[in-house]
Amino acid sequence: MKKKITLIGAGQIGGTLAHLIALKDLADVVLFDVAAGIAKGKALDIAQSSPVNGFNVNLSGTDDYEDTKNSDVIIITAGVPRKPGMTRDDLLGINLKIIKEVAEGIKNTSPNAFVICITNPLDVIVMALQKYSSLPKNKVIGMAGILDSSRFIYFLSQELKVPVDKIKSFVLGGHGDSMVAMLGSTEVDGQKITDLIKEGKISKERLDQIVDRTKKGGAEIVKYLEKGSAFYAPAASGVEMAECYLKDLKKQLPCAAHLDGEYGTKDIYAGVPVIIGSGGVEKIVELQLSSDEKENFKKSVDSVRDLFNAAKKIDTSL
Ligand code: APR
Repeated sequence: MKKKITLIGAGQIGGTLAHLIALKDLADVVLFDVAAGIAKGKALDIAQSSPVNGFNVNLSGTDDYEDTKNSDVIIITAGVPRKPGMTRDDLLGINLKIIKEVAEGIKNTSPNAFVICITNPLDVIVMALQKYSSLPKNKVIGMAGILDSSRFIYFLSQELKVPVDKIKSFVLGGHGDSMVAMLGSTEVDGQKITDLIKEGKISKERLDQIVDRTKKGGAEIVKYLEKGSAFYAPAASGVEMAECYLKDLKKQLPCAAHLDGEYGTKDIYAGVPVIIGSGGVEKIVELQLSSDEKENFKKSVDSVRDLFNAAKKIDTSL
């Protein structure tokens, strides 16, 4: 039997997720949205491309949680995206309410699902989702690090004229301006980026600019689009996590995971490398961080904690 992926939110990212999942023949797709017509229309549109693209999955749209029951994977994008000039944190109040409703909708209908959250502000929303739903912490995870790392790798590849698949890097911490590019773990064609600086292949100033562009990668797109935020790269990143879980690939991927003492921090969600397999988050990988990286990671986690405290003021049940 085909696996079942439910997409809560059938907007820009939700629609793109559905399309990518279909093109990969990964699973049947249920698109759920409070705007049922959008969910049904996108499902039908993508389904009508199956003869052309040669995939064989079932796609449907709904606004009834009953239709999502027993999902293997749930990917959540329900919520409001940024407008130009807004930070992700500005979305907190409105998206917190939406995520509470979603948690209620999924917790009894798909108690065994692997749940991937994409709604912003990511780290706080995924943490609230886990608390509201009481689903196991190793099965509730946020998508951010793959996207941030992917942006960083792309910018580096453009700068250094090296193919993206020859670059390895991680961007960790919270999914906001305080995210941390792990330069100590960044390799270009097998060489440490720090060695490339020593060899004069890239200056420290230029690298800092690229790191800064990565941090503001989402805002750059919001500014261009004027309406809505990025959706192709976020959707691709979400699908990678879902595929890793469904196929038990046990890849190491940077994701927002619940920390329980790892990286010297407890009871918070933040971006760290994790191993995803059929058990969900099977392991949190602890990288050796330089003292700078440690300090920046701590600052980033502190800002997630501050925002979660703000969320608790909005909803005291958290
Ligand atoms: N339940 C289900 N769907 C909802 C709910 C809800 N309670 N509230 C809103 N939605 C739906 C909207 O109807 C809309 O179709 O969520 C969808 C969001 O789609 P877009 O507005 O196109 O937003 P998108 O670009 O997909 O981003 C969604 O992901 O990356 C984050 O910051 C981004 O928080 C935003 C989210």
